[in-house]
Amino acid sequence: MDSIPDINNINDTYQQALGELSNNKSEQDLSLWRTKYLGRKGILTGLLRNLKETPIDSRREIGQQLNNIKNLLEKNYEDAVNAAGELVNKNSNVHNVDITMPGRPIQNGRLHPTTQMIREICEAFLSMGFDIAEGPEVEWEYYNFDALNIPSDHPARDMWDTLWLESDKQEKGNILLRTHTSPMQARIMENREPPVRVVVPGKVFRYEASDATHEWHFYQVEGLAVDQGLTFADLKGTLFEFAKRIFGENRKIRFRCDYFPFVEPGVDMSIDCFACSDSGSISTENCSICKRTGWIEIMGAGMVHPRVLEQAGYDPEKYTGFAFGLGPERIAMLKYGIDDIRHFYSNDIRFLNQF
Ligand code: PHE
Repeated sequence: MDSIPDINNINDTYQQALGELSNNKSEQDLSLWRTKYLGRKGILTGLLRNLKETPIDSRREIGQQLNNIKNLLEKNYEDAVNAAGELVNKNSNVHNVDITMPGRPIQNGRLHPTTQMIREICEAFLSMGFDIAEGPEVEWEYYNFDALNIPSDHPARDMWDTLWLESDKQEKGNILLRTHTSPMQARIMENREPPVRVVVPGKVFRYEASDATHEWHFYQVEGLAVDQGLTFADLKGTLFEFAKRIFGENRKIRFRCDYFPFVEPGVDMSIDCFACSDSGSISTENCSICKRTGWIEIMGAGMVHPRVLEQAGYDPEKYTGFAFGLGPERIAMLKYGIDDIRHFYSNDIRFLNQF
């Protein structure tokens, strides 16, 4: 049975309702509170229903008071619901975004392993008095072959499987993608007077299928020195020094005869295997790096052929020179134990990150 409203119980109800409201924080509690006071069977609704029982002279005043309180409680209730909602939002934001978490690091690029190797090789020759030149990848047939003592009917052209380009222009033969950096020997001699000491890093192309040790494009570093009185001893001293700088002080070197039309004599240079000759742990019989021979070929070299000097305008009676050509990917493969040359140009970040 609802009580009959009077000034006292209206005020008590109001104070009690406010007090309880301020204790209820969750949306569920607030909803229960609303049912208790403002619902159809709620306390305040009951008082309003009994208004008709109040003495007639105070009914109007009490009725007004009841309505005021009802409106105030409705308003307080809405405020409390909003506040609870904001709290929930705020809490969920706090959980979703951890402002103390470190930001995502920006990935810095770095130099490609081939570039790093080329720089290391060039650095070694720079410190021995060489300078650096670069030349065209799209080259005249003349510089790639004829100027290097390889005329068009010469079978040695088969040593370099060539990618030819179609062109109407035929100034110095046909146009091709250079198969080696040696054409720069001729270009440099055409443009400079001796003494010449230069290394030429650059990309070269061969018309061959790729496998673990061959790519259809790769890099070479060419070297050329021409002066009065240069001998094979100069070649040997320079390349020995180079091998020690790249592969360590203990290296031994070995030369064997080899054939390149633009040098005479021509050699291939090997170093003793740094994997099995330095350490007692691997025996040469089991060494995969040198393929059980104890030696690793690292470059072709030789004394510049007199015909090459002559064709470039140098007097072969006055000047002699030596030249060499090496593959930086191959040097990097040996130095870092890389088993497949195709890793260099497959853009696999897991490979590239290791350098
Ligand atoms: N150009 C040769 C090659 O690509 C390498 C070489 C360079 C040999 C200079 C001797 C002298 O196989």
